[in-house]
Amino acid sequence: MPIMSKHSSSLVCYCGRVSRERIVKAIRAGATTLKKVQAATGAGVGDRCMELNPKGTCCIPDIVAIIKEETGTKQAEGCSCPHCRPK
Ligand code: FES
Repeated sequence: MPIMSKHSSSLVCYCGRVSRERIVKAIRAGATTLKKVQAATGAGVGDRCMELNPKGTCCIPDIVAIIKEETGTKQAEGCSCPHCRPK
């Protein structure tokens, strides 16, 4: 039986319906930056975050946190999406 964390199948990106498990798999396959995770999974590139994500924000900070957990490296957290960009 595979060992799974309690959050392993939860959605991280609601726009792209991308799970934490999928993001972790992509990171472990070499997508160790935000741009690479976005390209590999389609997470963090949507534009309906306010409507679909229960947090009411985009998922970029959550993706960045998972990359940090998996790699131990801190990514630039600046999100340029329309929801997070300062007005
Ligand atoms: S929640 Fe991930 S891009 Fe909108």
